[in-house]
Amino acid sequence: MAAAARARVQVAIIGAGPAGMFLAHLLHEARIDAIVLELRSREHVVSRVRAGVLEQTTVALMHRLGLGARVAREGLVHGGTTLAVNDAPFHVDFDELVRGAAITVYGQSEVMKDLNQAADERHLEVIYEAADVQPHGLDTDAPWITWVSRQGPQRVDCEFIVGCDGFHGVSRGCIPPGESRVFERTYPFGWLGVLAEVPPCNHELVYANHEHGFALASMRSATRSRYYLQCSLQDRVEDWSDEAFWDEFAVRIGGSFARRITRGASFEKSIAPLRSFVSAPMRWGRLFLAGDAAHIVPPTGAKGLNLAAADVMVLADALRRYYATGSAAGIDGYSDRALARVWKAERFSWWLTHLTHRFPQMDGFDRQMQLAELEYLRSSRAARSSFAENYVGLPLEL
Ligand code: FAD
Ligand code: PHB
Repeated sequence: MAAAARARVQVAIIGAGPAGMFLAHLLHEARIDAIVLELRSREHVVSRVRAGVLEQTTVALMHRLGLGARVAREGLVHGGTTLAVNDAPFHVDFDELVRGAAITVYGQSEVMKDLNQAADERHLEVIYEAADVQPHGLDTDAPWITWVSRQGPQRVDCEFIVGCDGFHGVSRGCIPPGESRVFERTYPFGWLGVLAEVPPCNHELVYANHEHGFALASMRSATRSRYYLQCSLQDRVEDWSDEAFWDEFAVRIGGSFARRITRGASFEKSIAPLRSFVSAPMRWGRLFLAGDAAHIVPPTGAKGLNLAAADVMVLADALRRYYATGSAAGIDGYSDRALARVWKAERFSWWLTHLTHRFPQMDGFDRQMQLAELEYLRSSRAARSSFAENYVGLPLEL
């Protein structure tokens, strides 16, 4: 842990997750002076097991920033995915439906390792274990941030503050009541996720809609599986032995996939709640919000990390223009531009969650609607094209 070397920067970033670290690299590329303040330790941020699917835009960003060597070597490129219902799987071929499109399976912790290693090489200033981070003067031209390090109270003055501090961060709460609006859905279930050192049961992801609830077969490599089960919000991780997980996973994933499951001890098991959330606008005064600080999607569409990367691409472009030309047009348009894409990802994630999960109040009619929609996807190229273009990621126009 280091104290801030400088008393003044152009941009202060709160949070060293994907949004904060991608932004730090983008600002470095644009020669804008920045600092990142992170509450937790570097080890904690890197070791969090979260996202696994990268859109092409995110992979392209890694290449543009000179961070792409390992994802090119180790990332698993998938040209399609499988949707399964009632033991009858069907394939959606991204490659054929959306001009050679694909997604890349590469864990969030690997992305964080690449971001952090390059940050060291480029001498980006990232302060870990910064306690009690507080933005000040957001409605003035000269905001500042205070925090407490092991050495005591610290302060940095800046021109803009970017809240990349996730859903539970401090930034969003700095916007006065009445200056922003929240749109939210919570879901009456969670996801139980397991990591195990076993080969995946399929070479691509499988999203299964089963009477008992949703299941997802994902992976981190050819030897490491990442599997999920829809579970009750009352469940605790201790309620699910490995054996109970494998039994239920085999039932829900079904058919030939179940026969190809290799069981093994899990080395990570966690439960995550599902939420759709947007706080708009994504700017107040000299504060911008990016990533999970401004919006949350249920993980079904694999969009969270990708949206965080897209937000900071738009914001960095706007800040670059501001510093290069003095024009505020880009920063004034940031929130609207970012939200236009965010809402489409919110819609897709909400829709796919409704299509694939069991809701407690579902009746026979609701179930028939799910089955009809899945059957429509199976039989209609137009429906599969719509799924594919959203899943691989809508274009990002800067
Ligand atoms: P975060 O990753 O939450 O980072 C915020 C950072 O700010 C953290 O390091 C935090 O410690 C720090 N912070 C918080 N408060 C403070 C404070 N007061 N002061 C300083 N620092 C602070 N997304 C995908 O794109 N694809 C997927 O396949 C996918 N799968 C997922 C599966 C699961 C089970 C889960 C839970 C999420 C998944 N996501 C996925 C979502 C993705 O992980 C998040 O959207 C992503 O991490 C958001 O990045 P962020 O930088 O905005 O926020
Ligand atoms: C993951 O591998 O963690 C993952 C994959 C796809 C999703 C969500 C999570 O939709």
